[in-house]
Amino acid sequence: MWALGFQQSRYSYESDAKLRQIASRLRADRIPADVLYLDIDYQTKNRPFTVDTDAFPDFAKLLSDMKAQQFHTVLITDLHIANLPNADYAPYDEGIQGDHFLKNPDGTIYTGIVWPGPAVFPDFTHQPSREWWGTLYKNFYALGAAGFWNDMNEPAVFQTPTKTIPLDVRGRIEEPGFEPRIATQREVHNVFGMENSRATFEGLLKLNPNQRPFVLTRATYAGGQRYSATWTGDNHSTWNHLRLSIPMLLNLGLSGFAIAGDDIGGFGGSPPMDLLTKWIEVGAFNPIFRDHTEKGSNPQEPWVGGPVHEAIRRKFIEERYRLLPYIYTLAEENSRNGMPLMRPLFLEFPNVDLDPGNEFMWGPGLLVAPAMFQEEPQNYSARMPSGEWYDYWTGKEITRRAPGGDPVITGAAKSPPAVMEVNIKPALAELPVFVRGGSIIPLQPLVQSTGEKPKGPLELRVYPGPNCNGSIYQDDGISFAYKQGEFLRQAFSCEVAEGEVRLKFSAREGSWAPWWKETEVVLYGWQSATANVTFGGKPVSGSRYDQARGVLRIRIPERAGGGELRVKSK
Ligand code: GLC
Repeated sequence: MWALGFQQSRYSYESDAKLRQIASRLRADRIPADVLYLDIDYQTKNRPFTVDTDAFPDFAKLLSDMKAQQFHTVLITDLHIANLPNADYAPYDEGIQGDHFLKNPDGTIYTGIVWPGPAVFPDFTHQPSREWWGTLYKNFYALGAAGFWNDMNEPAVFQTPTKTIPLDVRGRIEEPGFEPRIATQREVHNVFGMENSRATFEGLLKLNPNQRPFVLTRATYAGGQRYSATWTGDNHSTWNHLRLSIPMLLNLGLSGFAIAGDDIGGFGGSPPMDLLTKWIEVGAFNPIFRDHTEKGSNPQEPWVGGPVHEAIRRKFIEERYRLLPYIYTLAEENSRNGMPLMRPLFLEFPNVDLDPGNEFMWGPGLLVAPAMFQEEPQNYSARMPSGEWYDYWTGKEITRRAPGGDPVITGAAKSPPAVMEVNIKPALAELPVFVRGGSIIPLQPLVQSTGEKPKGPLELRVYPGPNCNGSIYQDDGISFAYKQGEFLRQAFSCEVAEGEVRLKFSAREGSWAPWWKETEVVLYGWQSATANVTFGGKPVSGSRYDQARGVLRIRIPERAGGGELRVKSK
């Protein structure tokens, strides 16, 4: 769950004081956030599994203080082990002892230059070496690190023509299902990064069997989503790279790798403030939402550039947190059947012929429509299959306002279904998001982190339309207790007839107790000033109606057994 919150990183927060300052500012400015990253400079001379105690004098205290502020600290642990014989560097000594490093064709240990200088490389296709690698996390995990970042695991090597390990370097394959053999990089290069993240994942699971490991990897392979999240690597702070993040993340999702993100704001260089703002807006609708930048670039945290920018960025990060019940439900679906969170339009509307530009679906219900070229001020059209749609931000129904003005229905002569266009005047503070009629979307009250229990009702936004349904999945967000039934799953559906809406709540499945005691149903597209409301046959009073927007709000008590809410205009 916390991995779906806002993540703040940079190369690098170089001291204890700096990380504390970032954490305090996020909380003081009330920018919801869950994750802080320590990049390579927390280590002594870039040596994996060490801590630079000059810059981080009390690492345990730092990690526990971060925890106390409800931050999860993720540590980078690159796979290149510094080549340091006789230096009391345990990862090297143990690796030599256990024969865990890759070798040259002549049998000597292969060394390549990476961040620590000369380095050696664990043999990740060799099961005993993976198991050993997993044990290296013991101390950091015990100190309170929440997750780990496996970078440079292509593996990257400086000063070789290919920027990776030469093809004749040897490892071993030795594990169930495979014929044991010597395996050169020529054979295993493409799976190496995934096997690194697998070793980390499996090691963490052994160290703490009741906690879902969080691993972020740069290199991976088909199937690597079983072990880690990923991101799109070292992008640049340009409008083009913001634009490209969308097809890249969509393609990753279609390839089975749904839990992915990109460096928000761009890694290389420093973004103009408008670009950082826009990037945070779009990133709020990406599976991993992580601001990261390179060494030497300008600060890139959400407050950079002054209060006007910060307010816009905060608004989008807050929206991310309000939507977490919806997003978590999507993530759970992904874990069961692979359906991506971020979806190309054709996945939801396979029969509709439309050029989606840079639009994408965020789950089945939300259509996010950034401009194709977001730095350009010209008006543009958001395109969607014609039907019932609502403006996510105002709740107003957009389809029934024709003729005259928006939306313009086009393509009516084409074979059905037709495509609808909404004319958009771009604005820095706005990102067009539309809700597909027929969606029921759960939201929660604003929190500053996923560790904070939301206070108030679950909000259930009901957007009438065809095949109207939705669901919610919740659990503790961290452990495997859901496998013993400690989860909550509930389905919703609605039917609309003349002057009447019926909203059905299925009985809750699972033994996880919800944080909400009440549900606030928000019914969109309600056209009548009067509303006669019953829940489970009993009258419900106190509904509130916003006539200008056609929105009716109704509070009902949470009921494990479900029930039916009926709203009649008379
Ligand atoms: C690589 C990573 C980047 C990281 C840097 C230093 O370039 O892709 O995210 O900040 O190494 O560790």
